[in-house]
Amino acid sequence: MVRIIATLLAFAPIFAMANQQGCTGNTSMCPNSQDGVSSTYLQCNSWTQQYVTMSCPSGQVCYANPNSPGTVMCGLPNTGGQGKCTGNTAKCTAPGQTGAYLQCENWSGQYVSASCPAGLKCYNNDSNTGVYCN
Ligand SMILES: *[C@@H]1O[C@H](CO)[C@@H](O)[C@H](O)[C@H]1NC(C)=O
Ligand SMILES: *[C@@H]1O[C@H](CO)[C@@H](O)[C@H](O)[C@H]1NC(C)=O
Ligand SMILES: *[C@@H]1O[C@H](CO)[C@@H](O)[C@H](O)[C@H]1NC(C)=O
Repeated sequence: MVRIIATLLAFAPIFAMANQQGCTGNTSMCPNSQDGVSSTYLQCNSWTQQYVTMSCPSGQVCYANPNSPGTVMCGLPNTGGQGKCTGNTAKCTAPGQTGAYLQCENWSGQYVSASCPAGLKCYNNDSNTGVYCN
């Protein structure tokens, strides 16, 4: 009986650790599941089934990837994890409510924060690929 208890105690910390850090497949997550905060993310090593800390490109932070649940992406701070973009596209953060919008930065393929002139609000245009301020 004594030996069984000792065995259970010896294994308990290992189970606790597996619960906390174990992962499967090619999944990734932001530390503490927090969007837009961390310059690092946790990538599952599918062989060891443990998360490995990885760094976003310089100046970028971790976001849950809306296009691929269970994975994350890196993006510029304050872009809301809107993902990659192409060309001269833009979209309002809160259409008709504030002047804030996200402008695609052509060279990086990431949205960056932008704002209408003071006092104007942002509206998406008819094709939803650009914005105007009014
Ligand atoms: C793992 O996921 C990342 C990001 O989601 C992707 O870029 C990569 O190609 C994937 N690797 C494999 C082996 O599926
Ligand atoms: C985006 O960049 C490409 C390559 O540098 C360039 O050919 C293209 O004209 C740019 N588009 C816009 C809208 O600036
Ligand atoms: C919306 O804005 C984009 C980017 O400025 C522009 O290319 C597109 O033609 C506009 N669409 C309409 C319907 O005005």
